[in-house]
Formats: sequence, C-alpha cells, structure tokens
Amino acid sequence: MDYLKKNIVVIGLGYVGLPLAVKLSSAFDVIGYDISNQRITELKKYYDSTNEITKVKLQKAKRLMVSSNIEDIHNKNIYIITVPTPVNKNNLPDLKLLKKACKLVGKIMAKNSIVIFESTVYPGVTENICAPILAKYSGYKLNKSFFLGYSPERINPGDKKHSVEKITKVVSGSNSATASIISNIYKKIIKAGVFHASSIEVAETAKAIENAQRDINIAFINEIALLCHKLNISIYDVLDAAKTKWNFLPFYPGLVGGHCIGVDPYYLAHVAKKSGMQTDVILSGRRLNDNMTKIIFNILKKNISKRSKILQIGISFKENVPDIRNSKSAELAKLFLKNNYNIKVHDPVVDKLEVEEEYNINLSELKGQYDNLIIAVSHDFLKNNNVINCLKHKANIFDITGKYKNIFNSNKYNYWSL
Ligand SMILES: NC(=O)c1ccc[n+]([C@@H]2O[C@H](COP(=O)([O-])OP(=O)(O)OC[C@H]3O[C@@H](n4cnc5c(N)ncnc54)[C@H](O)[C@@H]3O)[C@@H](O)[C@H]2O)c1
Repeated sequence: MDYLKKNIVVIGLGYVGLPLAVKLSSAFDVIGYDISNQRITELKKYYDSTNEITKVKLQKAKRLMVSSNIEDIHNKNIYIITVPTPVNKNNLPDLKLLKKACKLVGKIMAKNSIVIFESTVYPGVTENICAPILAKYSGYKLNKSFFLGYSPERINPGDKKHSVEKITKVVSGSNSATASIISNIYKKIIKAGVFHASSIEVAETAKAIENAQRDINIAFINEIALLCHKLNISIYDVLDAAKTKWNFLPFYPGLVGGHCIGVDPYYLAHVAKKSGMQTDVILSGRRLNDNMTKIIFNILKKNISKRSKILQIGISFKENVPDIRNSKSAELAKLFLKNNYNIKVHDPVVDKLEVEEEYNINLSELKGQYDNLIIAVSHDFLKNNNVINCLKHKANIFDITGKYKNIFNSNKYNYWSL
C-alpha cells in the first residue's frame, strides 16, 4: 500500500493536534477529528480558541476537513493520536483519554493501518497499553495487520517562532518498514527534518526527559533565586554574570504550571516506581516547582497590606496562551483571595467565562488605581499597555517574571523581583 497517497486522520485537535493537522494538510488530505462538538463548530467557522492558528491559515487549509462524526474517520489507513495525557489528583498518569482514543481507532481502522501516537507518555505505554487495546477492538495483529508509531510532539504553545515544521521530528515505528513510512510522511511537512529513534520506547523516553530536564533546571534556578533573595543578591545579575561562561545554561526563575513540564516528570517517576526505582532528583525538582506559588505568596504578603489595592496581571499558565489549566498564577490569585486581600486580576488573553468556571475568579478590566502590581505572566500586551496609568505614585511592583525591570525601575515605583 502507498501510505503517502492515503488520508491522514488526526485524533484530538488541541494545542498539538490542530497545528499538526493544518501543516499535514499542505501535503495530504487530512481529517481532523475531535470529540468536542464545540471545538469542531468553532473550527468550521475558522476560529481557533487556542490562538495557535489564525483564521486566514484555517481558511487556506483546503485539504483539511474537521469533524466530530465517527463515520468520517471510518476505514482509514493512518491515524495520529494527539489527545491529552494528564495526571490525576494524586499526580499519577491518567491515561483514560488515550485509552478511549485507542478503543475508538481500534473499532474503525482499516486493515494494515498505521497508528502513530504523539501524546506524551512514559516508556512502554504505546506498545504495552495502546497496542493491546487497538488489537482487541480491531481484531488485527501488531506488525501483521496493523502497525504502530510514536513521534513525540515538541510544539511550544504561544511561540510563533518554533512552529511544527521548524522542530526536528523524532520518529519511531513498531518495525523498521513502518518507521520509514512514518518518516516519509513527516518529511513532507517538517523542514527541520526527522530523526529516527531506535525504538518506540526510546522516542517515548526522549520526549519525557526533555520536559523533565526543563523542570529540574528551572527548579534549580528557583532554589538559587530563593537563596539570592535571602542574601539580598539579584538572581538576574547573578545569571548575567554566570552565563558569560560557555557551558552555563541560562534558565530563569518562575512559576511552572500547565500540562507538560509540570506533568511529564510524574510520568517518569511513575514508570521508575513501577520498575522498583526511586527518583529523587525528578521528584525534588517537581516538589519545589509545585511549592513556588506558596513560597512567593508568603514573600509577597509580607510586603502587601490587606487594606491596599492589588492588581495582578496574568492568569494563564504561561505567556501569550489562553490555556488556564494547572495555572500557577491562578493559584497565586486564589491564595490572595482566600486570605482576604483586595486583589483584582486582569488578563485579556484568556476566556473570562472559563476562568470563572475553573477558578471562580471574575476577571477585571484595566481600570482603577492600585497600590500594588503583581506581574504573574509576561503576556506581550504588557510591553505597550496602559497598566502604568492604573498605578499610584510609589506603587509596589512585584515582578515574578523578572522581565519588566527596565519599565518600572524608576523612583516612581518600588520594583521587586525574585
Ligand atoms: N500543549 C503542549 O504544549 C504540548 C506539547 C507537546 C506535547 N503535548 C502533548 O500532546 C498531547 C495533547 O496535548 P494538547 O495540549 O494538544 O491537549 P489539548 O487539551 O489542547 O487538546 C486535546 C484535544 O483532544 C480532544 N480529545 C480528547 N479525547 C479525545 C478522543 N478520545 N477523541 C478525539 N478527541 C479527543 C479534546 O477535545 C481536545 O480538543 C498531550 O499528551 C500533551 O502532553 C502537549
């Protein structure tokens, strides 16, 4: 079968699936399937609530069809699964959605299909958990009448520079012929090229450690930032000095939320535990990053009186994305509210209703006069905004991102960063 002439089905059109489906449609006929009717209705009107794909790009993607109707993805030959892989409340991998997607694909895929997974998982999930489900519901046999691939997604939401085609794609397959076919598919759209991992487990592990490494590096710098704070030394001046050495890695302190960096280390810790191994480094990094909100709250509350007015900028989990899941800046606002501080939160990037539903926080317009400004997320709008008009003379600026020193470092304000 010539797979390069076949339709490609992308299952799950979120931050990962939609940009991938749009890009694939420049070379293939693509059907993007999502269980959310709302998502499909919006996409049919060329509206992407994740802000990753513009209206014009969606309109131009003539070979992309989006659907929430299973009939449309029946009996196809290539399925790419990009559904969420979160953790549960005990920080254990929650593979429910992934298993559900496998069951769905197992029931409808044609004989000799290739099923490629892009969702982040721990090593072994694709072959030991997904493949048996696909086999059970299809009645096909792995490497005889269906084939597997794993190609981790490395997209960075909100980052318009590192788009799908500019990031090297790691590919792997359940046998070498499948790996080559998968590689040829991605080569059609990935300008940066593909890298053949030696096995599916290698590709799965590579993805998980990329994010875990970032988590640990940020945790280390967060710890150093707290130490510098105690010693009354600027971490940013320290980093400026240290990074003049060729092999120093310049990570910056901050809040680590979201559903990738804050989650993937738990996947690694889980597989380690299952294998009888304890992961000290991975989990201690996670613990510190998870605690950063409380630590920062405790520092800030010593400097903010309950009677004064606070404006917090940003509630999404990172800059320039509307994603509010597992957001540490939302956690920070909640702590202030719970402790009866007079705080308002402004964030024009996110969906107001979603914030109300998820966190019970009513977002405010940019108006009024405040004694304190907390910059929790460095959205681009802050560069040319009128936040300054909302600040009283000698307002306290608590810049958790550390990026606005130049704007607020005048004697009109009291500037603070970690
Ligand atoms: N967002 C990132 O920065 C990023 C980067 C790299 C990898 N990843 C990984 O990619 C995967 C997807 O993440 P995301 O951020 O795109 O998730 P997301 O929540 O933005 O989107 C997932 C989409 O899948 C849909 N969905 C869920 N179950 C489905 C099913 N059974 N059938 C069809 N559609 C279904 C949802 O409705 C949603 O639209 C995760 O494993 C994540 O860890 C995410």
